[in-house]
Amino acid sequence: MSGEGKVVAITGASSGIGEATALLLAERGARLVLGARRTDRLEDLVDRIERAGGTAVSARVDVTRREDLHALVALARERFGRLDVLVGNAGVGPISPLDDLRVDEWDEMVDVNIKGVLHGIAAALPVFREQRAGHFVTTSSTAAFTVAPAMAVYAGTKVAVRAICEGLRQEAGPTVRVTTVFPGFVHTGFAEASSNPVVRERIAGMRDEIAISPDSIARAIAFAIEEPAEVDVNEVVVRPAAQS
Ligand SMILES: NC(=O)c1ccc[n+]([C@@H]2O[C@H](COP(=O)([O-])OP(=O)(O)OC[C@H]3O[C@@H](n4cnc5c(N)ncnc54)[C@H](OP(=O)(O)O)[C@@H]3O)[C@@H](O)[C@H]2O)c1
Repeated sequence: MSGEGKVVAITGASSGIGEATALLLAERGARLVLGARRTDRLEDLVDRIERAGGTAVSARVDVTRREDLHALVALARERFGRLDVLVGNAGVGPISPLDDLRVDEWDEMVDVNIKGVLHGIAAALPVFREQRAGHFVTTSSTAAFTVAPAMAVYAGTKVAVRAICEGLRQEAGPTVRVTTVFPGFVHTGFAEASSNPVVRERIAGMRDEIAISPDSIARAIAFAIEEPAEVDVNEVVVRPAAQS
């Protein structure tokens, strides 16, 4: 398997898609460097991976802090001598109608979903250049293609992620690969993120009706990573068959 032995750092690894990706890649022989803010969950995940015979380390990472991404990349190099893949997956979705004026939550979405991704690029790109090899995998959303009421700011951040990753791909050259994953409705804690009770209830109802397992997104990420170095899987959309 061409993913075997790869050193993969994942942000937002403490739950949902990030956690599922860590477990799958570890099973397939990758060495994991896991970041998020909830270190208790990360430590538990490292423990589960190691007990199953895999290799993982973790660090507290807040992606809004530039230095935390540099520290995550440094940890990969220190422990494993290199970084092959950065999965920029951390994201928040406290969605609400614009009329609610939940401006702090707009700020949070911009800071985590957009700046968090940029901080990862800033930390890993020089390392990928030096190694003459590397792979950015970033989690956008089908909200990058379809805006719906209450989704304006969140969708805006995911459109931005798509644009940034496409620009990165064009500039990357032949040695750096760039994959953007666009999940549809996935069964994670994400549905509880809205602080608007009406929106939260609506989203939770949709989740229970149509959401797919985070394992499907993990498999799409593994597919992109495991393709040969000369193959760049750029955009992968994975949504529930029932999602319009
Ligand atoms: N679930 C869906 O339907 C869906 C659909 C499309 C796209 N997505 C995207 O998928 C990604 C993962 O979300 P999920 O669905 O797996 O939800 P989740 O279970 O809530 O996971 C979000 C992850 O992001 C981390 N995170 C949030 N803020 C962070 C910060 N400031 N610094 C570092 N890590 C932070 C969280 O860890 P800590 O809280 O421990 O820091 C957590 O590990 C997000 O980018 C989301 O936008 C989700």
